[in-house]
Amino acid sequence: MKKEIGTIGVLTSGGDSPGMNAAIRAVVRRAIGNDLKVKGIYKGYQGLLDGEIKELKAMDVSETMGRGGTILYTARSKFMLTEEGPKRAAQVLKKHGIDALVVIGGDGSYKGAGAISKHGINVVGIPGTIDLDIASTEYTIGFDTAVNTAMEAIDKIKDTSASHERCSIIEVMGRGAGYIALWCGIATGAECILLPEKYDFDERKLVESIIASRERGKKLQIIVNAEGIGHSAAMARRIQAATGIETRATILGYMQRGGSPTCRDRMCASVMGAYAVDILLEGKQNRVVAYTKGEITDYDLEEALEMQKEISDYEYRIANALSGKYQKTE
Ligand code: F6P
Repeated sequence: MKKEIGTIGVLTSGGDSPGMNAAIRAVVRRAIGNDLKVKGIYKGYQGLLDGEIKELKAMDVSETMGRGGTILYTARSKFMLTEEGPKRAAQVLKKHGIDALVVIGGDGSYKGAGAISKHGINVVGIPGTIDLDIASTEYTIGFDTAVNTAMEAIDKIKDTSASHERCSIIEVMGRGAGYIALWCGIATGAECILLPEKYDFDERKLVESIIASRERGKKLQIIVNAEGIGHSAAMARRIQAATGIETRATILGYMQRGGSPTCRDRMCASVMGAYAVDILLEGKQNRVVAYTKGEITDYDLEEALEMQKEISDYEYRIANALSGKYQKTE
């Protein structure tokens, strides 16, 4: 292996996600195992600009794997979107002797890393977001825990909806993406799943399918609504008025970002963290770590940012086909 670096910096940026600690731990231990130093950068890019940097030793990350959140804290920094921000960030990194920066976060964090790389710092991105909306990878750290948390919450709401013979609209996170909604909608057998990528905003169809479900004898109806569509409370009022069925809205919110990570999140985050260090040791420049067809791999950061990702049409059709409309295979 070719070793061209001495010190790696690691930070978490954007919304936290369960499993980030496992990735940090893996970066630290893989680097130390290869005679590199690791510096933890606290509070994301903002902390980097403020110089909140401390060396991390192997024991500093001990017993962190099972913890939700991020031990490095996180933040969103508007200054990183300016020309001056990334330049200053690179200066701070150089001052602290950091040759390569590992950024754990979403697309926005990748963009920040890309901007820093233009100022002579080698960067590697690790996908960390509950939203699963990073085009270059099929897996993002935290998604598995978040969908399981949301699924369990929806199961509980189903119990009380059944007792009261109600319709429930449950809003899940995902920013502009519908992956969380699609997964927990399928996993809970929701009557309707509203995704920003697919919803046509024709509420008449929604009302018709709720009435049809009641007429088939179903005593509760679940609508999983993605954050990207939102307005669940107003939607519940309109559906109640149009159907005559008592309808309630629940916004699951930040609970989806917390909690102890699942085995999948701990495992994949650990592999990704170690892999980030390995590709730096190989001398690769400005990459992002990814899972593609179940295999760990890496892509050029700028190319990764150009990639597009779409909700699976088949999975969406299946969700509808199984949820009461019992559609034929097309
Ligand atoms: O990206 C993760 C996420 O939880 C999104 O699902 C949500 O839209 C956003 O972050 C909320 O961000 P904030 O923590 O800034 O309110």
